[in-house]
Amino acid sequence: MIEFRQISHRYPGSAGDLILREISFSIAPGECVGLTGPSGCGKSTLAHIGAGHITPAGGQVVVDGVDLTSRPSRQVFLIHQEPDLFPWQKVKKQVAFAMGQAEPGRVAALLALVKLSGFEDYYPRQLSGGMKKRLALARALAVNPRLLVLDESFSSLDSNLKYELYEDLRRIWRETAATILLITHDSRDLENLAHREIRLSADKPTTIKEIRQLK
Ligand SMILES: Nc1ncnc2c1ncn2[C@@H]1O[C@H](COP(=O)(O)OP(=O)(O)OP(=O)(O)O)[C@@H](O)[C@H]1O
Ligand SMILES: [Mg+2]
Repeated sequence: MIEFRQISHRYPGSAGDLILREISFSIAPGECVGLTGPSGCGKSTLAHIGAGHITPAGGQVVVDGVDLTSRPSRQVFLIHQEPDLFPWQKVKKQVAFAMGQAEPGRVAALLALVKLSGFEDYYPRQLSGGMKKRLALARALAVNPRLLVLDESFSSLDSNLKYELYEDLRRIWRETAATILLITHDSRDLENLAHREIRLSADKPTTIKEIRQLK
């Protein structure tokens, strides 16, 4: 269980204004929760707080009962909009590197899962946009995090690629039971993937406007 407990945040220098106020929700194992809200409301900020990259002004991030607030760990893995792949590393190396201890069999299995078998020796620049996203996914799954956060990870893809990736993601879910927080502006992402939507408000500071069951 992943719990965001009363998370509040302000950035230094922003006149001390609170951006997020007491945001609380939890995500059950195997669940995909969509996080939506107007641009600038604080979704990415919440993602970085969840991953321990930013210390919130208040509140805790608790993973399976352990307080991981401000502690970057392998438990919560964040994939950005433009996947931060290493340009100098081949596909297979990127996945092996994420594992820490390389397990060649598992690297091959993960690459097969994201349909990149045969591309083991390619460099990121030789991959299409969709392939890069799938490589980023394989790398994230290699880490085997308790929570995978996808921050607008599909937004630059055309709709055909998107539908292809939905299929892949649903299949990957069935096979890995990953727990996902999906940040998106696209209602189709929610319809296709999310069990629940958490919508943040437009007013300042941001609070939760609505929680909606989708599946
Ligand atoms: N490093 C920073 N320093 C100061 N203010 C920041 C910083 N990062 C974000 N902000 C501010 O915090 C607020 C929330 O930003 P954030 O990027 O979390 O929004 P978002 O919901 O992800 O928006 P979008 O949908 O456009 O990606 C914005 O007002 C932004 O200007
Ligand atoms: Mg954002």
